[in-house]
Amino acid sequence: MNFKKLVLIVALVLFSIPQRVIAQTNSIVVHTDLAKDTISKYIYGHFAEHLGRGIYDGFYVGQTSEIPNIHGIRKDIVASLKELDIPVLRWPGGCFAEQYQWRDGIGPVAERPLVVNTFWGGVTEDNSFGTHEFLELCELLGTEPYIAVNIASGTVKDAYQWIEYVTSDKDSEITRLRKRNGRDQPWKVKFWGIGNENWGCGGSMNAEYYTDVFKRFSTYCNAEFKIASGGVFDDLEWTKTFLTGIQEVPSFINIAHGMSYHYYTISNSWEAKGSATDFVEKEWFSSMRNTLKMEANLEDQIAVMDTYDPANKIALIADEWGAWYDVEPGTNPGFLYQQNTLRDALVAGLGLNIFNNHARRIKMANIAQTVNVLQAMILTKGAQMVKTPSFYTFKLYKVHQDAISIPTEVSAGNYVTDDGEIPSLSVSSSIDKFGTINISIVNLNPHQDIQATIDLQGLEKIGVITGQIIAANTMNAYNDFGKEEAVTIQSFTHFKKKDSTISVDLPSKSVVLLTLRKP
Ligand code: AHR
Repeated sequence: MNFKKLVLIVALVLFSIPQRVIAQTNSIVVHTDLAKDTISKYIYGHFAEHLGRGIYDGFYVGQTSEIPNIHGIRKDIVASLKELDIPVLRWPGGCFAEQYQWRDGIGPVAERPLVVNTFWGGVTEDNSFGTHEFLELCELLGTEPYIAVNIASGTVKDAYQWIEYVTSDKDSEITRLRKRNGRDQPWKVKFWGIGNENWGCGGSMNAEYYTDVFKRFSTYCNAEFKIASGGVFDDLEWTKTFLTGIQEVPSFINIAHGMSYHYYTISNSWEAKGSATDFVEKEWFSSMRNTLKMEANLEDQIAVMDTYDPANKIALIADEWGAWYDVEPGTNPGFLYQQNTLRDALVAGLGLNIFNNHARRIKMANIAQTVNVLQAMILTKGAQMVKTPSFYTFKLYKVHQDAISIPTEVSAGNYVTDDGEIPSLSVSSSIDKFGTINISIVNLNPHQDIQATIDLQGLEKIGVITGQIIAANTMNAYNDFGKEEAVTIQSFTHFKKKDSTISVDLPSKSVVLLTLRKP
């Protein structure tokens, strides 16, 4: 073999080796001196709809189940979710909220009517999980409830009486009914949704019509924090119409406090979303790219809100978000049951970084949907239960709840594919009331470890640093029933500090959290 041939062969071999080497230096500047906006803890919220096995055969197995439960609510799920410090839980939907008649879900369970859940699988809903059960679940989780009222197939009177039933300490027929049903004291429920996706499953309304309907309902709904339905995620006209419309309401009416925003990460198309576990790099890339696209879209919405509500009185409430794939083979298509891999841990990290970095206007987010539905935290099979990779991202990131967001600047190489390129790193950072700084970093490149320098502007010295990581060898690693966990949080030590700088080696396809204590 001549020398030229040898060089060619060596070059070919080298180029065909996956890019596991640390190939570039990247920088992250953390502007501790510019920390300003509080990251509302509610950004770490969740959503639970009467959909598939989310409530029934999920959270709620009924009192006669052999699975250990408290009044029908699974003990293992409650214990696990408590690890996340869930600040708020949205219920009963989603699309289901707009067909839900709250009176069907109170009183003796045996007397509650059977209805058909027309949106999700056409199954019989026996109403055994209703208002009292949901509010008990929230008490067990130590979370605040967020209830969406029905404005599309219910009346204004239904809506305001539900609020009265739940929250009023006055004497009335409705509060006497609550007492007869076993609850003497009112519950504290601050958050109430006035409709859901009213451009679609919530009545196919246009923005003008919805705004009028919202005003009519909201005028009578005596609640502390009322959240209106937003339009489709990129519908800026809806946002303008709504924000203009509510300005016409007399100031003595406490009309609106938030507007919702829904965004789902679809890796292929709505018609063929692709498998949650059996996917190729092309789909990994599109999941990352499409989650990152949410940021530009949110910024467009926020720009409109800044123009029409410059005093920042109306919060942006991202009350449905997350990854949506094809259902697991053999499961009811209307149940939206999907597995959850390392890819989802990263999707969760990207989404939460985006919300943390836009905390000035975004005051709540609710990932869809906590148990057995879409990007769930928990999956169950009979008495078995797994914590998903997304669960671990929420566990890792809970340190940001109610901390002050620190602006960061990231200068990093792109993750380049035949389908395009996106930044390899996503970062958010915060400082809590003890002066502890947390920096969460997603390396979304599935092949390349990245060496980065973190420069802490405004800080002369850093105290003790600890690291944690979510990573795995394969893009589609997941936690399966009866098997050892493949994706979880592990300790991470690949960093070094010098004065106010840290150098860190970020493994490919990972979510890393660095915690910096005060010196
Ligand atoms: O989360 C599933 C569904 O997605 C919700 O019911 C609806 O609001 C949205 O379209």
